[in-house]
Amino acid sequence: MEIKVFDSYEEISKAASKIIINQVKNKPESILGLATGSSPLGIYKEMIQDHKGNNTTYQNITTFNLDEYYGIKKTHPKSYHYFMKKNLFNHIDIKKENINIPNGVSKEMDIECKEYNDKLEEHQIDIQLLGIGRNGHIGFNEPGTPFDSTTHQVKLDEKTRQDNERFFDSIEEVPHYAITMGIKNILQSKRIILIATGKCKADAVYGMIRGPIDINCPASSLQMHDDVTVFVDKAAASKL
Ligand code: GLP
Repeated sequence: MEIKVFDSYEEISKAASKIIINQVKNKPESILGLATGSSPLGIYKEMIQDHKGNNTTYQNITTFNLDEYYGIKKTHPKSYHYFMKKNLFNHIDIKKENINIPNGVSKEMDIECKEYNDKLEEHQIDIQLLGIGRNGHIGFNEPGTPFDSTTHQVKLDEKTRQDNERFFDSIEEVPHYAITMGIKNILQSKRIILIATGKCKADAVYGMIRGPIDINCPASSLQMHDDVTVFVDKAAASKL
């Protein structure tokens, strides 16, 4: 794992977005794995700015998002579908048909998971963007998730629900379930970029990098991948 420590979130966003923008410039039909949460927001801002200023085109890329809440519609303002549109897709020239996000309202979750996996098997992700949960989760793969897991439905940890409460009006509104790409899917990406900032992520960052490779810290599975770059600020790196 390559660890890059920065002074600010802005610097992280600039450096990480450069990698993604160069990837798309060098290979216009790149396959990007995208994430939600606050960590990637700065990267998306940089990508939009670059698209508008330098005309980098996203016409031929394909994207796969990590996860979606279960039971809320795509049009719900707190859904990850809505988040991605608002924060990235509506501002770049990506084709709608090239966007893949798990469907959290599918009536047949088993079929939805299988179809998402099948698509992932056909499209190896060039760069997978990740954040990390305070409990070491990646995507919505909570502690205890087997490393060979593929796309599946999960019951969210209370800690995760509390962390994500800030995006909702109350804790009651935060869904209890989600659908997520599995750890195996994530590890199949060619390259992985993980962003973590703030003291609240320091334990998770320590577990991911220095801890044993253990299912109790899902992010520790990234130690098994040979092309992971971790972008952290000093606070998130404080326990390393
Ligand atoms: C959610 C998402 C994860 C994300 C995590 C951290 O649980 N499912 O993909 O990494 O939150 O979010 P944040 O970047 O807001 O700290």
